[in-house]
Amino acid sequence: MIKIEKVENNIDLITIKNDELEVVVSNYGCTLVKVLMKDQAGNVDDVVLGYDDFKSYQTLDAYIGALVGRVANRIKKGTFELNGQTYHLPINNGPNSLHGGIKGFSYQVFDYQVLDETSVEFHYVSKDGEEGYPGELDFKAIYSLEGDTLTMHYHATTSKDTLINITNHSYFNLSGKKENVYQHLLKVHADRFACIDPDGLPTGEIKDVKGTSFDFNEFAYIGDRVDNDDEQLQLGKGFDHPMIFNTKENQVELVHEKTGRKLTVSTTLPQAQIYTANYLDGRLGKYGQHYNARDAICIETQNMPDAIHLEENPSTILKAGDTYDEKTSYKFEVIKNL
Ligand code: BGC
Repeated sequence: MIKIEKVENNIDLITIKNDELEVVVSNYGCTLVKVLMKDQAGNVDDVVLGYDDFKSYQTLDAYIGALVGRVANRIKKGTFELNGQTYHLPINNGPNSLHGGIKGFSYQVFDYQVLDETSVEFHYVSKDGEEGYPGELDFKAIYSLEGDTLTMHYHATTSKDTLINITNHSYFNLSGKKENVYQHLLKVHADRFACIDPDGLPTGEIKDVKGTSFDFNEFAYIGDRVDNDDEQLQLGKGFDHPMIFNTKENQVELVHEKTGRKLTVSTTLPQAQIYTANYLDGRLGKYGQHYNARDAICIETQNMPDAIHLEENPSTILKAGDTYDEKTSYKFEVIKNL
């Protein structure tokens, strides 16, 4: 079932509901506003952070629930070269450009159409030169809910060679924000992670997770790791690192034992920025709750941040005539006997 509610001007809230899950999304930034799910006892909680007051989505940083584009994460010094031309992007995070610039996709109103009772398609044409990026980018995101699984399917084409790296920036807390994420168990199928500098920019150094706080190949409590005495964790103020997958599906699992809730993320993308909400600053969120560091975890599936500087054949280049086509799904399960 799909229900539409007007917020203001062209901004709507779209509720997609079935017996297992209710998700609320907006055409503002293709934002995931709510995910309402049961626990083992049948109690319903919202397992993503968000705001009650829509203005907060428009004015605050943190990208809560937002689709991030054209390019997620950082581009070194907001400058890159493509086909012999130099491009300059807005600098909005230390010396670097973050999450598509000042008015990236997270802050745009998308057109949308309801496709059927389970899915909605968002559409946005980003002008040639918008936020410094070359090419007119024709972008579509289809969000669909099948049973307990929400899938986000992204497509884009461009008039000129350009960069693209789309992610969703939801902040998950499977307790329904009754506690922070220290008691959440995390599993990430990744043998390697990318090191970052003090500004959060990947340095190009890739490390083996073995013997480090980054080895989540077996379930571990986030709270047992995040404050460890580890130089990379100190630089990120917690986890804020690209983890490079070693499997092609079900790459990230998150479990909250008390409620029996489990999230499984499966993606066509090769890695995810695992971010333990280190920069949440006590701001007011939904239901009158305040959000602090470690109140959630973001699992930002994407290509390598700053690939344009770090990779020989940057995975974030989209050539004119080619199609960007990536998919990430989020399965919200209740496990009866945990
Ligand atoms: C970044 C963080 C940043 C957060 C919110 C994450 O993707 O890696 O450093 O604080 O997004 O903008």
